[in-house]
Amino acid sequence: MLATDLALALDPVRLSERAGLAPDAWQRDVLRSQDRQTILLCSRQAGKSTVSAVLAVHEAVYRAASLILVLSPSLRQSQELFRKVLDVYRSLDHSVPASAETKLTLELDNGSRIVSLPGKEATIRGYSGVTLLIEDEASRVPDALYLAIRPMLAVSAGRIVLLSTPFGKRGHFYQTWTGDDPDWQRVKVPGTDVPRIPAAWLAAERARVGDWWFSQEYLCQFVDDQSQLIGSEAIAAAADARIRPLWMSGGWEGIDDADHAGDAGDSGHPVGAGEAGGDDGGLGRRIGPWPE
Ligand SMILES: Nc1ncnc2c1ncn2[C@@H]1O[C@H](COP(=O)(O)OP(=O)(O)OP(=O)(O)O)[C@@H](O)[C@H]1O
Ligand SMILES: [Mg+2]
Repeated sequence: MLATDLALALDPVRLSERAGLAPDAWQRDVLRSQDRQTILLCSRQAGKSTVSAVLAVHEAVYRAASLILVLSPSLRQSQELFRKVLDVYRSLDHSVPASAETKLTLELDNGSRIVSLPGKEATIRGYSGVTLLIEDEASRVPDALYLAIRPMLAVSAGRIVLLSTPFGKRGHFYQTWTGDDPDWQRVKVPGTDVPRIPAAWLAAERARVGDWWFSQEYLCQFVDDQSQLIGSEAIAAAADARIRPLWMSGGWEGIDDADHAGDAGDSGHPVGAGEAGGDDGGLGRRIGPWPE
């Protein structure tokens, strides 16, 4: 019994198997990863939410007094994901008992908490010392929220995991995936690599929904919004770093970041001000290519 528990404690893959889920190869990688920052670019139905639930439960059960935040874009998605968390937790016979349970929170006797939250900034404020932060459907979570949650990892040196299908060439998920920050573990899982999605089904679905939608939902491609008149590549190619923006006509001196960023994070700092625990996931570099 003790040996089994030790094996489960050391290896989240064993916990997943105990919960009745033999993880796919990429799920095993994520569960065993020691990286502090992981981004998963996945097909629909790849098993993102499932692996998130296993990670959350493993952290809560085997690391006393841990705080796990699981973020989704909407309340419905938070509830859905929390249901998966409870399924995994309840499937463990010898887990730490629960001390409290609400619709979106599970508290354990060892002092750990799993909190599932919808992506609204107001609901996020107030948490600190987060040991594991999971952002499900991250491409649809607003950037302001992402910047508000990152500092919660600063003191705890917690882990962050972003998981999503793509959603246009914009936002922190796209920028983190395409950025060159080496401190991110990047994992891509197209539908063609998911053993539970038959190739014939994928071919039929492509014919049904069309190439544009299919490439976004199943092939992990960041595609421009179909209603966008000018493509992202054309806009990027037209940008000229030598031209000073009109709103900077007063000169460079004395202008700090707060003057030229519209989107504020938790601390009131703008996007790109380099906050968020000293690592803005590459967002800071995107605000302006202008010279010092
Ligand atoms: N390793 C696995 N073994 C067996 N079934 C799995 C595994 N991983 C996920 N599944 C199952 O695959 C289905 C999809 O899983 P999940 O909801 O986690 O995927 P998702 O990527 O979050 O999907 P969506 O894009 O719709 O949010 C679920 O029925 C889940 O139980
Ligand atoms: Mg999901």
